[in-house]
Amino acid sequence: MPKFAHIVGWGKYMPETILTNKDMEGIVDTTDEWIRTRTGIEERRIASREESTSTLAINAARQALTVANIDPLKLDLIIVATTTPDYAFPSTACLVQDALGAAHAAAYDLSAACSGFIYALSMARDTIVAGSNRHVLVIGAEIFSRIIDWKDRNTCVLFGDGAGAVLLTASEIPGGVLATSLGADGSGADLLIIPGGGSRNPASQETVAENLHTVRMNGREVFRFATRVMTRASKEVAEAAHILLEDIELVIPHQANARIIESAAKSLKMADDRVYSNLKRYGNTSAASIPIALCEAIEENRIHPGDHLILVGFGGGLTWGAALVQWEVSIPLTPLPRWKRIWYSLRFRWARVESFFRRAWRWMEGLPRTPMGQTRFLWFKARDGLNKAGKGISKTGKGVAKKAEKAGKGIAEKAGLSQSGEKEE
Ligand code: ACO
Repeated sequence: MPKFAHIVGWGKYMPETILTNKDMEGIVDTTDEWIRTRTGIEERRIASREESTSTLAINAARQALTVANIDPLKLDLIIVATTTPDYAFPSTACLVQDALGAAHAAAYDLSAACSGFIYALSMARDTIVAGSNRHVLVIGAEIFSRIIDWKDRNTCVLFGDGAGAVLLTASEIPGGVLATSLGADGSGADLLIIPGGGSRNPASQETVAENLHTVRMNGREVFRFATRVMTRASKEVAEAAHILLEDIELVIPHQANARIIESAAKSLKMADDRVYSNLKRYGNTSAASIPIALCEAIEENRIHPGDHLILVGFGGGLTWGAALVQWEVSIPLTPLPRWKRIWYSLRFRWARVESFFRRAWRWMEGLPRTPMGQTRFLWFKARDGLNKAGKGISKTGKGVAKKAEKAGKGIAEKAGLSQSGEKEE
């Protein structure tokens, strides 16, 4: 039975609009200098009106599936860590599941504020190690720009929007997410909170008038808590995995404040080059910050097979968590052949058509019987026919794909090209 959960795919999506510190000067009473020196942030991304947390998550997830070269139908579970879901319900994870065409996957959201991604990674790993799931997609996605008070300079300069995703797969090869360590302290619930909109203060004209639907934060308290738990969680997870801190190649911390990251690095005795940060480009993207940073560390060739990584975060709740990962995938990856990339892009478009048919099915199944009792019968007949046709198309598709791959190799051999596309000597 597979006992290890490896990260085999990854992806990120950042909205296009950039809001610089200079832009912030026109919104609240602040300065570029204050923001840079007190937080380390230079700019952040802001989602457009057409975007929502699910659309960001879907883009990151598509990339992760393409990198892993795994069809969405193989997914067993999708977890979306977010504090800014599209709706109170349905979960954002269900919207992602539908858009990906991951028809066999269960899906749920996880709420642990900025620690959400580590919590979700831990849940995903545990279900794989327990043998319940084989392929699990873990996404951190947030649109904090919709829940911050744009008049409050204490908070609005800190946050940004984005999404990151990883695909975990069961394997017998030792490595992957070796250990996780999670914690919570609800006595600090009021330090970072959106007081309105839940069952305690349901949305009303009064809650809107009192501005209860935006983030309230005690920055100093959160700062103190963060520096303490980042170190503690990192040490705990290293101990749980029986890895010495000296043997950690890279720490990827939650990107909230450069001074918190520096302080944690100092108490862990880690030099700057062993701690990854992209905070200055994106600000605090909450549950998305760690997977986005992981993707960028991979892009920058900072991660190599055999490396030990600590991913560590903290957030509202109060919550915290760390994961120790033994990386096993070679980077750079051999790029997927062009036809395969086209295949995935068509596959994701097809998911929309499937979604339409599923809605149609539900509608048809709800139809009353006609006087002749034929409607349902005809419908089930049509559905069987469609299923058969679908299987036939998929078989033919696979045959064509195999032939195309064979032909491609033949041409490459004739042209004297290696698999990577380089000319062989
Ligand atoms: N521009 C200019 N001045 C500002 C700004 C701003 N944007 N924001 C605050 N100030 C002022 C304050 O009003 C205060 O002025 P005062 O002394 O006259 O009252 C002064 O700057 C200093 O305020 P401090 O709170 O002491 O500033 P500090 O150095 O602690 O930095 C900060 C504040 C950046 C918020 C810091 O405390 C911090 O990063 N805390 C952690 C926050 C965090 O990580 N939150 C996310 C958690 S993750 C999640 O779950 C979402």
